[in-house]
Amino acid sequence: MCGIVGYVGRTSGRADAGHTALDVVLEGLRRLEYRGYDSAGVAVVADGEISSRKKSGKLSNLLAELDARPLPEAMTGIGHTRWATHGGPTDQNAHPHLSDGGKLALIHNGIIENFAELKLELVAKGVEFASETDTEVAAALLGDIFRNKLGGDVSDGGLTRAMELACQRLEGAFTLLAVHADQPDVVVAARRNSPLVVGLGEGENFLGSDVSGFIDHTRRAVELGQDQIVTITADSVAITDFFGAPAEGKEYHVNWDPESAEKGGFPSFMEKEIHDQPDAVGQTLLGRSDIHGKLTLDELRIDPALLKSVDKIIVLACGTSAYAGQVAKYAIEHWCRIPTEVELSHEFRYRDPIVDANTLIVSISQSGETMDTLMAVRYAKEQGAKTVSICNTNGSTIPRESDAVLYTHAGPEIAVASTKAFLAQITAAYLLGLYLAQLRGNKFQGEIKDILADLAKIPAKIQRILDNEGQIKELGQSMADAKSVLFLGRHVGFPVAMEGALKLKELAYIHAEGFAAGELKHGPIALIEEGQPVFVVVPSPRGRDSLHSKVVSNIQEVRARGAKTIVIAEEGDEAVKAYAEHVFYIPETPTLLAPLLATVPLQIFALALATAKGYDVDQPRNLAKSVTVE
Ligand code: AGP
Repeated sequence: MCGIVGYVGRTSGRADAGHTALDVVLEGLRRLEYRGYDSAGVAVVADGEISSRKKSGKLSNLLAELDARPLPEAMTGIGHTRWATHGGPTDQNAHPHLSDGGKLALIHNGIIENFAELKLELVAKGVEFASETDTEVAAALLGDIFRNKLGGDVSDGGLTRAMELACQRLEGAFTLLAVHADQPDVVVAARRNSPLVVGLGEGENFLGSDVSGFIDHTRRAVELGQDQIVTITADSVAITDFFGAPAEGKEYHVNWDPESAEKGGFPSFMEKEIHDQPDAVGQTLLGRSDIHGKLTLDELRIDPALLKSVDKIIVLACGTSAYAGQVAKYAIEHWCRIPTEVELSHEFRYRDPIVDANTLIVSISQSGETMDTLMAVRYAKEQGAKTVSICNTNGSTIPRESDAVLYTHAGPEIAVASTKAFLAQITAAYLLGLYLAQLRGNKFQGEIKDILADLAKIPAKIQRILDNEGQIKELGQSMADAKSVLFLGRHVGFPVAMEGALKLKELAYIHAEGFAAGELKHGPIALIEEGQPVFVVVPSPRGRDSLHSKVVSNIQEVRARGAKTIVIAEEGDEAVKAYAEHVFYIPETPTLLAPLLATVPLQIFALALATAKGYDVDQPRNLAKSVTVE
């Protein structure tokens, strides 16, 4: 998830508009920095040339660079703040990327799935690449088409026509913005599966990955549809499809204030990120399997022979990430038949663990900087284990010190309490498990393809839960005075119950405890008294029947003792109704994938209850987004 801004103003310049392209672009990037801050860059068109600057790190690094090496005054420009997916957060990998002899500049948000084959094609034509990014491939393709296919002729639509032809070749998710020195007063943009909004001004027009990019200048916005291209000048906005046919955008008035615009119109990053989850899961799945359903985890740079010899997996993580690991355990053991332990990082190296060259360490960390997990990974490496990092922050310490990495593509998670990263971590762990099953032959290709097809349906199912969040929100608001809430789950529902309890602890500062439903009668049932709220995560009745019937028995046990039972169950499960004060249904899905859905109502509940208590849900007391001390 990256921040993107484009601008074209009247050539009369700052005197007329009151600002230059650079002023607008930098202002927009500052507001969009929450979308990514691994690097930032700008390009302007002036005096028949493209001038660009880009720096790794936060926007402030780019500002310092611009102070040291100013750009010429210009009224056409683009800017980008990056959340790295392909290629680490370096100066080289920062956007914009240039092509056509430095006359074309391109910025990109998304993932080009077929960048590898396009790169081979362009290298065969003699194109040289300076970065590891998929974006530079898109820039080179666009430049090659503009120069060699269209002969650089700007009269016939020029850059717009080149963008149409390039988009016909690209697969995946992308928002692209391009400028060309030979067309100084034009920005051309395209979008597929990635956001792009046009800002309409007087004698100037804007582009942004969201309205934050230009909200200081106009509140007239046009949202682009799928597979559309927009060409903006100071006085015109022309929208077409990828084949040049005229198309329409949807105009609307932006009534958010600038600050809430950064939160997508939500009152908090926490709520925004809960609603980002369909995209977080979808982006994490994107580009990781081919059309035959074969997994292609090209960033998993570990010798397949070594992966085949793995006889034990140890997952290392803390907090929410550890619960993602616990979900992964069920899936990996079921699919791969490899014994899988899940260890709290801070406990791992003090228990004299059994680790050797046939042990695969899988660390899970949103930040990639959690000191407990980093130290545990280092310890395991000293014992000879191979290490894979599942991480959401490209170029952070843990993936850098691991033998391989599987990045989640949830985008920056600003709220301290983790939500979208959790679902993305589970998704990435499923992909790793399926990859191992594919490599070791535990699953037929068709079986893997079926599971991937089920996974591909998850984003829409999460969206359905979000679209019906009102009921669970009301329950959360009504329970602001609760003093304690218990969470029960069995099988993969057990880590979901643990995560639900953690969310409530973190956000509402309420005692909450998650435990295995089967453990109830071994002690915790003594906690049950009249009115005690108990969430129960019920497995699908379509799965192993024993699981479902046993959990329904658990509900009866607590209800008989006065508990207020709140049940998360699969649509169509009528059996739970008789024992539940409230039932929240989630769409049908295979048992092992259910955590991606069952977690969402628990997140919404915790957020609603904490909000009703008036707490800061983005920055809860005593917590840090990344715990970089042991
Ligand atoms: C999650 O809501 C918490 N903020 C915390 O448990 C977090 O998951 C844990 O500190 C691990 O962080 P990491 O994923 O960045 O390693």
